Amino acid sequence: MNKRNNFNRRDFLTTSLLSAGSLMLPRLAYSAESNDNYVNSELSVPTALPRRKIGTLEVSALGAGCMNFVQTYSPRPSKQDAIKVIQRAYELGITFFDVAQSYGPYTGEELVGEAIAPFRDKIVLSTKFGHEYGADKKWVRLNSQPNYIRKMTEQSLKRLRTDYIDLYYQHRVDPNVPIEDVAGTIQDLIKEGKIRHWGLSEAGEATIRRAHAVKAVTAIQNEYSFWTRDPEQEVLPTCEELGIGFVPWSPLGQGFLTGDITPRTVFHPSEDLISNFPRFKPDAIKANWPLVCLLQNIGELVYATSAQVALAWLLARKPFIVPIPGTTNLKHLAMNINSLQVQLTQDDLTALDREFERIGVHGGRTTPPLQKRHDMGADFGNSSKGKQGNTPLPKNSL
Ligand SMILES: NC(=O)c1ccc[n+]([C@@H]2O[C@H](COP(=O)([O-])OP(=O)(O)OC[C@H]3O[C@@H](n4cnc5c(N)ncnc54)[C@H](OP(=O)(O)O)[C@@H]3O)[C@@H](O)[C@H]2O)c1
Repeated sequence: MNKRNNFNRRDFLTTSLLSAGSLMLPRLAYSAESNDNYVNSELSVPTALPRRKIGTLEVSALGAGCMNFVQTYSPRPSKQDAIKVIQRAYELGITFFDVAQSYGPYTGEELVGEAIAPFRDKIVLSTKFGHEYGADKKWVRLNSQPNYIRKMTEQSLKRLRTDYIDLYYQHRVDPNVPIEDVAGTIQDLIKEGKIRHWGLSEAGEATIRRAHAVKAVTAIQNEYSFWTRDPEQEVLPTCEELGIGFVPWSPLGQGFLTGDITPRTVFHPSEDLISNFPRFKPDAIKANWPLVCLLQNIGELVYATSAQVALAWLLARKPFIVPIPGTTNLKHLAMNINSLQVQLTQDDLTALDREFERIGVHGGRTTPPLQKRHDMGADFGNSSKGKQGNTPLPKNSL
């Protein structure tokens, strides 16, 4: 009998959410999805996954975030294990891999370049420019000066062991360089065959429009997930209007939406970035915990974990959205890919939206210094509509 028929979802949700003090619902067990015994010998023929269009580029409907092999989260796998996960992602049908010059810095690109070498021409490889590091590998500043972009592009091509980058994002909008100059440089790199498509990360509406007017933007990569809704106000409608794809980063809320982070979680010292985000403080985790329970409750109806519901929810938002969950774990990789099979009904989506509005989100998504590097507009509480965004206007337009 269909499990759905045994439930009155509305009652189930209401009852469980109202008992908010003890929101400890039974979790589903997913041992059957484990592929821990996988042994990386010869690469097998990839499985076909559903595909999606971002701009004019076609990719698997889920991508692989490759930052976590080298930074931010702990524990970090050995290089050999990291390569195993990346290659397994390809075998399971992922054709969209995300990295950046700043991951490591640079070691992320080296790792991905090595891992994807056997199937380079079968995938869409994206990386990002725009952060400058000193010889000691310490962050210096944002730098999207045309000459610096060119220099860093050559280095990325070497590290990635390729002669073209499919999708090249500006990682953060540079407040010192008109976005038109960046777009012009990208246009030249495309003419030279080094770049095929370009995108922007953490960009707001005004910047996106200015950039797109010079050279069509393929994708925007901003943070977006069930608990991070900033792009909904301006950026997603702009992408829809202009035919630009949207790639949500941290689609699992930096792991929070999986239910694996609780108020008792002790973060490893190397996870100081996320553990300092206001919403990862114990009181905020407690206040936000009903969001995890909400995802779990819907998951009970569709035989899915909260992580799978969080990904299925993103996929259901818009057909041009392609999430890139980050995992270093083979079992999580398989579970995330299986989220493509989770079908949320309109009732499920309505319940998720309604309860999200009621619960709200507690604590900011990042630290003030990092927030300053975002060009979103909306997440400062100010609209960027009709404004120029954070970059200066080109000299010839003044
Ligand atoms: N453009 C930007 O500025 C920007 C910023 C940040 C990230 N990114 C990109 O976006 C990608 C994804 O973001 P993210 O990695 O920060 O956040 P995320 O995907 O929301 O969450 C990653 C965390 O969730 C865990 N996880 C993943 N799948 C899981 C599952 N099925 N069950 C339980 N835990 C699971 C991971 O641990 P395990 O390894 O143990 O699975 C990791 O701790 C990155 O890899 C990177 O490529 C871009």
